[in-house]
Amino acid sequence: MISFAGVGKSFGDNHVLRELDLDVAAGEKVSIIGPSGSGKTTILRLLMTLEQPDSGLVEVDGELLWDCRNDVGAADTRRQAAVRRKIGMVFQHFNLFPHMTVLNNVTLSPIQVLGMPREEAEQRAVDLLQMVGLEKHLGHKPGQLSGGQQQRVAIARALAMRPKVMLFDEVTSALDPELIGEVLAVIRDLAHTTAMTMLLVTHEMRFAEEISDRVLMFDSGAVIESGPPSTIFENPQHERTQRFLKAVLERK
Ligand SMILES: Nc1ncnc2c1ncn2[C@@H]1O[C@H](COP(=O)(O)OP(=O)(O)OP(=O)(O)O)[C@@H](O)[C@H]1O
Ligand SMILES: [Mg+2]
Repeated sequence: MISFAGVGKSFGDNHVLRELDLDVAAGEKVSIIGPSGSGKTTILRLLMTLEQPDSGLVEVDGELLWDCRNDVGAADTRRQAAVRRKIGMVFQHFNLFPHMTVLNNVTLSPIQVLGMPREEAEQRAVDLLQMVGLEKHLGHKPGQLSGGQQQRVAIARALAMRPKVMLFDEVTSALDPELIGEVLAVIRDLAHTTAMTMLLVTHEMRFAEEISDRVLMFDSGAVIESGPPSTIFENPQHERTQRFLKAVLERK
């Protein structure tokens, strides 16, 4: 479903990704862990076409998103947008439209981008908001909700576009500790009940262990260790992974 082949990305002299190869199968749930600045968010931003790679290929669902050899992506923005629409993303900061109701935040893109009739978009939004436990808040503005509630709206909003792939970037790290659980519960439910492909960057190790088919340990722009969660968390092979997990777990 997702394939990176030889992808490089630099910001000036900062070589963030080096010849990255990464494949995620359809339906697979993959967590990315690793130290700050190692390039985790950059991977997700390349998939969202918020950044452009310097080298390599990126494919999504069998279609080219980026091909630096042939300038695919930069040259053909309409075709690229169609590929990009298969992907939904939830960010650390919810980025909801503050002046719009919860319901309108969720229906906006289906109506404007997919051309869905309003009635159908609203019915679907109500179903999704029910799924994330917010059916009582349809008419509220984001500012009237807690951080955890806003993040659940952001998840519903991404799902409203019927993506094949969902990306989550540290979606709980801006939340108060007591609100983290309700957001993780929604994602856990999605992971366990849908066939969507999921790529998550997270510092919630217990959560990653529970929902992932595979965990990737990232350092300095490369995958240094990859395996089932039981191996990565209980028996990490790489010294860098051991050091990282020790530091993260001690911080808790
Ligand atoms: N738009 C940008 N311009 C310049 N440098 C950038 C830009 N985006 C990211 N970087 C740099 O690229 C490196 C990787 O950033 P990235 O956000 O991918 O790291 P990360 O692994 O997600 O870190 P964190 O765990 O702190 O979120 C960092 O050194 C960062 O400063
Ligand atoms: Mg990041």
